[in-house]
Amino acid sequence: MQELKIERLVKRYPGRDQVIAVNHVDVEVQAGEMLVLLGPSGCGKTTLLRCVAGLEDAQEGRILLEGQPVFDASSGMNQPTHLRDIGMVFQNYSLWPHMTVQANVEYPLRARGAKADDRARRAAEVLEVVQCAHLSDRIPAMLSGGQQQRIALARALAPRPKVMLLDEPLSNLDALLRVELRAHLRAIHRELGFTGIYVTHDQIEAFNLGTRVAVMNAGRIEQLGSASQVYERPATEYVARFLGIRNSLAIDPQGGWHAGPTPLAGDLGRLDQHQGPMQLYVRPPSVSVLPADAPAPGPGQIVLSGARVKDVLYAGGEIDFVVELGQATLYATMRVGGAAPRASDPVRIQFASSDALLYRNGQLIDG
Ligand SMILES: Nc1ncnc2c1ncn2[C@@H]1O[C@H](COP(=O)(O)OP(=O)(O)OP(=O)(O)O)[C@@H](O)[C@H]1O
Ligand SMILES: [Mg+2]
Repeated sequence: MQELKIERLVKRYPGRDQVIAVNHVDVEVQAGEMLVLLGPSGCGKTTLLRCVAGLEDAQEGRILLEGQPVFDASSGMNQPTHLRDIGMVFQNYSLWPHMTVQANVEYPLRARGAKADDRARRAAEVLEVVQCAHLSDRIPAMLSGGQQQRIALARALAPRPKVMLLDEPLSNLDALLRVELRAHLRAIHRELGFTGIYVTHDQIEAFNLGTRVAVMNAGRIEQLGSASQVYERPATEYVARFLGIRNSLAIDPQGGWHAGPTPLAGDLGRLDQHQGPMQLYVRPPSVSVLPADAPAPGPGQIVLSGARVKDVLYAGGEIDFVVELGQATLYATMRVGGAAPRASDPVRIQFASSDALLYRNGQLIDG
């Protein structure tokens, strides 16, 4: 059953350089699902969420909650926010500063006319869920950022909305707290089973929390799939680059596969299934940097010789190598025991043929 359906939604902001913040978005969110909108700054994530919340008027399209239209551009219908059965949590916690935690969480229940003892019972329940029952008498100024965000979550959950909209709720928190709250949010979602849209530009957050992930690009959904589909098979070069797959080589089969002046050696069977130039992407952790005279590679490896180490960056247990190969720059992240190649050393690059993602005209053709 679809809890939420967005059809051909278009939101333009007027002005000289008219921005199409949401550009023909079609998406359905199933009951109990957490859909994550992932994308860089300015791609339209917040605008899409605000349209669902009824905080923006779109110019085209429809939005349905449980099959009922709440927005329809063709008839000019736009149900006000407070009549939509949704809860919202934003990046800034936006709690009422003069109210206690208890009063903040009860607020939406009061607005819906719930009786005093029902309000108190429900507030106690959700404060328990977010592990903040002991804070109920404090005011927001007496809480940490992480606590404030938990209270904001409790407040949104209190009326048991059908749909929860979460806009970068963890991005104001420090790294450790973010990881902790992310896990907590995942547990709460599993326990309560609400339907959610979660906005983030952090791919780890997206893959941790998302039942499905929608990658957005300039107002459009560029790819929509399960976390593992998006991670393992980025549908376009844009998604691959956004996911940090930094290694990109233009390869051509004319006179044997080569990348610029560098011939590709080793296991090229997978490339030979294709004709014509392609763009090959491979993740830095899949790439090995080996001394130029290292023993011959095992089976299934693609090898590029004649590279040179440009820089070596220590990153805790791993080492990031920046390597020059003709005009191209490649990146490798490796755990290295013993002697690692050093800056300006001649090296060989290799990676498993199965780790390559192949694109033509920006689209994944084999991955
Ligand atoms: N009120 C507004 N008036 C004009 N343009 C706007 C307005 N709000 C947003 N925009 C533009 O719409 C586009 C999408 O903005 P939006 O806030 O939805 O992006 P976002 O994906 O949420 O980005 P971020 O990750 O930075 O929060 C941007 O180009 C932005 O400049
Ligand atoms: Mg935003």
